[in-house]
Amino acid sequence: MRILIKNIRSLVQVEDIPQVKVQGSKMKELNTINDAWLAIENDTIVGFGKMEEWEGISDWSNLTIIDASDKIVMPCYCDSHTHVVYAGSREGEFVDRINGLSYEQIFERGGGILNSAKRLADASEEELIESALKRLNEIMWQGTGAVEIKSGYGLSTETELKMLRVIKKLKERSPLTIKSTFLGAHAVPANLKGDRKKYIDIIINEMMPKIAEEKLADYCDVFCEQNYFTKEETIEILSAAKKYNMIPKVHAEQLSNYGGVLAGVEVGAISVDHLEFVGDKEIEALKGSVTMPTILPGAAFFLSLPLPPARKMIDAGLAVAVASDYNPGSSPSGNMNFMLSLCCVQYKMTPEEAINAATINSAYAMNLSDTHGSIAIGKKANVFITQEIPNYSFIPYSFGSNLIETVIINGKVMSK
Ligand code: NIG
Ligand code: FE
Repeated sequence: MRILIKNIRSLVQVEDIPQVKVQGSKMKELNTINDAWLAIENDTIVGFGKMEEWEGISDWSNLTIIDASDKIVMPCYCDSHTHVVYAGSREGEFVDRINGLSYEQIFERGGGILNSAKRLADASEEELIESALKRLNEIMWQGTGAVEIKSGYGLSTETELKMLRVIKKLKERSPLTIKSTFLGAHAVPANLKGDRKKYIDIIINEMMPKIAEEKLADYCDVFCEQNYFTKEETIEILSAAKKYNMIPKVHAEQLSNYGGVLAGVEVGAISVDHLEFVGDKEIEALKGSVTMPTILPGAAFFLSLPLPPARKMIDAGLAVAVASDYNPGSSPSGNMNFMLSLCCVQYKMTPEEAINAATINSAYAMNLSDTHGSIAIGKKANVFITQEIPNYSFIPYSFGSNLIETVIINGKVMSK
């Protein structure tokens, strides 16, 4: 199977020498070819260039030709932080927050993550797979080609394993590239309230060995926050996870400055995510580390939180990634186009910085830079084609619209 896309108005995020991430002032650069062609063979990108240098077609066998006149072609987004496996929804809490309750107050009343945990315990694996597949299909049509999915609404050995097995089935059944994350340390379950030590013991000594045995998780994450897990506990859990070959990630500094970033850097986390309460100390610690600071503008928007200092981090020379945090409580949207709009409007990131954050840098945050996140020879053919639009800045500019017309995942043109 071969695909040739020709007459492309702009082919965005092309790389001759692929990089694993882009940082600091380099994030303002987005390599683009105007009036371009792109060639795909099986699941791989095999060539691209300017139409005027195109050598024409010598072999017509098994070839699909797509004319992309006046359209933009981009690598699919990589969404490095989601919780798309969940049961039910939480619009009741949304209304409670409008009426004045805070996210923390709702949690203290047994809502929030604990509300989703109750609902998930009653759902069958098949129900969870079906509802998650619908969400994955939805985000695919919004341009996402690779996605990380977390557990964390189980909070018992049985239900955490159930969630991770569901994610394993999604890896088989969805066309998207999926990475899985064990987030047992998302909250202390209601039955162990007041006995965090016991729950951490269960996470490390009961859950982790089983997860490792069934190879259910690529990453391990902890919600480092007041009333959830401390910096020391985060380090303890993630150090244990590394022994089981799970790479650390952290939910850090979302509701307060609580040590999540420092914990993440100390254990060599691949990413630290949220970052609303990051200060200079955390920015210094991130410099020269392997850890990708990742903003989740959907959650900050939906919970009306202070904004993470994305501009300051980039100006300090750091790389920044963006992800959706798609989940029923703090970000019930996985639309990466909208995340780009938020990056530009609220965080004063340029469209180039936002697109770098949503492609190559978010690919890094899920160890996929070698295969995803840019248009480069040898990378997976995960690209989308827009409607007729003037340029790539038109995507974040048109907030709330979906301008994506065609999605190609691993060299296959997806059909609705
Ligand atoms: O990333 N902050 C913690 N976890 C999720 C929210 C989970 C929920 O409310 O269901 C987040 O925002
Ligand atoms: Fe999250």
